[in-house]
Amino acid sequence: FMKRRKSWSRYPPGPASLPFIGTMLQIDFCNPHLSFKQLSKKFGNVFSLQNCWRNVVVLNGFKTVKEALIQKSEDFADRPYFPIYKHLGYGENAEGVVVARYGWAWKEQRRFAFSTLKNLGMGKKSLEHRVTEEAGFLCSVICSKEGHPFDPHFLINNAVSNVICSLVYGERFDYDNKKFQMLLRLHEKALNEESGLLPQLLTAVPWLLRIPGLPQRVFQSQRKVLDFTDELVKEHKATCNPTQKRDFTDAFLQEMEKTKEHTESSFNVNNLRMVIVDLFSAGTETTSTTLRWALLYMLLYPDIQRKVHEEIDKVIGKDRSPQMEDQVNMPYTNAVIHETQRYGDIVPAGVPHMTYRDTELQGFFIPKGTTVLINLSSVLKDETVWEKPHQFYPEHFLDADGQFVKREAFLPFSAGRRVCLGEQLARMELFLFFTSLLQHFTFHLPEGHARPREDGHFALTLTPHPYQIQAVPR
Ligand code: HEM
Repeated sequence: FMKRRKSWSRYPPGPASLPFIGTMLQIDFCNPHLSFKQLSKKFGNVFSLQNCWRNVVVLNGFKTVKEALIQKSEDFADRPYFPIYKHLGYGENAEGVVVARYGWAWKEQRRFAFSTLKNLGMGKKSLEHRVTEEAGFLCSVICSKEGHPFDPHFLINNAVSNVICSLVYGERFDYDNKKFQMLLRLHEKALNEESGLLPQLLTAVPWLLRIPGLPQRVFQSQRKVLDFTDELVKEHKATCNPTQKRDFTDAFLQEMEKTKEHTESSFNVNNLRMVIVDLFSAGTETTSTTLRWALLYMLLYPDIQRKVHEEIDKVIGKDRSPQMEDQVNMPYTNAVIHETQRYGDIVPAGVPHMTYRDTELQGFFIPKGTTVLINLSSVLKDETVWEKPHQFYPEHFLDADGQFVKREAFLPFSAGRRVCLGEQLARMELFLFFTSLLQHFTFHLPEGHARPREDGHFALTLTPHPYQIQAVPR
């Protein structure tokens, strides 16, 4: 008891806690990373918060995050339990991947998802062709705009999402497919439903979910996304052939068949919908948001766009499609994509972790079961690491000879055991979509339009405010 009391005396400092609500008023839940930045100035890189009764510790800066996620990876590998998800059908052995607790069911699903995506072409030529083909469709639709201003948001979303669709359902959807458009919009709304004060409050005080009708109202879009997924899985089952693996859904259904004797198996129909929704939402919004930031920066920094054009013309030319092998010969374009991910800061507050056991970090004691927020923004904009943390500066990733350099603090995909499962796929998509777009077009800010904002809108991801663009064929 004395030993434990002594340990608690080394619990990270934080703002004073009020009865019942704890420190919740200290955080702007619409921009948590900005609140974390302010609080870390006062309390240091490891500070604590109290969401009602929930203990929360926030980690800031590259050195701290590296120690936690890389050196003490397993100590920080768990996820907090979110009672709100129970209302969406998450349950024992059916937690998908993203919010699954650290344990065998998560390991089984993570390993399965990774190897299946690999077998379906992730990191290989076959998928490269699929992405290049999709980039071609995207360029054709943009061409049809004939230089008139348009908002690239849903076109890019549709193209990126089609890559995941090909992997998961074995099919893509045309850009004017109304049903698919609706699904994409629902996914975005679903992300909005998960951010802000209300979901935090419901997580901290789950009995509020017993208020009749509240969960149904709060998670309307998420429910519709799941209904939609069920429909697609049903259609799939009807055409499934046990000797063939067309896509991820087929592979999962076959695994379900193989393990149907094991009542404990995480391959069950409930988990199938959770894993599909995870791949879909984790894989679409992040990559498409990054591409939207990339185009926005090209509008705002025409000199940088010109240099990318020059490199594309020199290395790829106009007559063939970009391919992954080109990347090593295109250090400037590669640096621009990396800088977009750093400066765009797409998942600024990370995905919540939880300590798997009692642990120590930078001399502080963090007990088992503490929610840990990884302030990725503070790593990507760490003032002790980056030369110009608050500017769009591709030279962060170039040496004096203009060659590409990797940077240790480049952690947009996080690190450690819960590192992004789709990093390889995302990197391929970012390079192929971005170079294809810039190979075909010069992007301008339409005449008379105000300069777009560089700050973003936060809803788990940080997305650009809507902007219009003019694409002039090259
Ligand atoms: C997790 C970023 C694309 C699937 C994550 C996490 C981040 C992230 C920050 C949380 C890691 C943590 O908890 O510490 C990104 C970015 C992307 C991207 C910036 C694009 C630019 C993708 C794609 C897929 C994907 C294309 C689809 C295959 C996942 C999954 C997880 C995850 C399944 C959960 C991993 C786990 O909990 O074990 N991603 N991601 N992501 N991502 Fe991505």
